[in-house]
Amino acid sequence: MLTQPIPSLSHIAELKTARLHLRPWQASDHAPFAALNADPEVMRYFPATLDSAASAAFIHNTHQHFARYGWGLWAVEILHGPDAGDFIGFVGLSVPKRQFAFSPCVEIGWRLAQRYWRRGYASEAARTVLEFGFKELDLAEIVSFTSVLNVPSRAVMEKIGLHNQQQDFDHPALPDGHALQRHCLYALQKSAWLTLA
Ligand SMILES: CC(C)(COP(=O)(O)OP(=O)(O)OC[C@H]1O[C@@H](n2cnc3c(N)ncnc32)[C@H](O)[C@@H]1OP(=O)(O)O)[C@@H](O)C(=O)NCCC(=O)NCCS
Repeated sequence: MLTQPIPSLSHIAELKTARLHLRPWQASDHAPFAALNADPEVMRYFPATLDSAASAAFIHNTHQHFARYGWGLWAVEILHGPDAGDFIGFVGLSVPKRQFAFSPCVEIGWRLAQRYWRRGYASEAARTVLEFGFKELDLAEIVSFTSVLNVPSRAVMEKIGLHNQQQDFDHPALPDGHALQRHCLYALQKSAWLTLA
């Protein structure tokens, strides 16, 4: 839970890693984003795939988040090599609209097209996002949560240094008995991140 006000910037931030550009969304992202949201394997740990309209609504919400805070869930593009220029998904920070027991909070999250999995892209981007959150925004804590069944996402959380808070909870948007209802909460404090860096 954050006790500080959620920070906002007067400009829109962009980030770069060795291999990736984390940038604001552009019109050409819509088609590949809709395609990855329609992939049942990408959406395996979500209640449903998203159709094209729901993907457009997601991008719209992301634009609004950037307009309000100057940071958000960045569109991720490959910088070099044969896949240079490819939009591969998103990695970034968001303020969940829904209230949780651990609100207010800033969440780190990711979703990549299947073709780009297991190349270290999510963790590479997420590490740079953590650095931005702790150094530029001076956040005291960054959280992440997912279905307890989401082994790949939990692996990213652990790889970048987040700790399981042992505070599993039932996601309020999912009905009782839903296979994905049970969620785990991970978090990293700035003080602990400084010892990692
Ligand atoms: C989760 C996701 C972003 C991981 O992306 P990625 O680029 O493949 O992750 P990385 O290559 O950076 O891997 C990071 C670590 O996770 C592990 N990992 C990745 N996918 C895994 C899988 N399917 N099973 C087990 N471990 C996995 C990697 O082995 C790596 O650890 P290691 O270096 O110690 O071996 C990707 O699987 C995805 O987009 N999933 C669908 C969307 C989703 O569930 N988002 C999260 C919702 S909360």
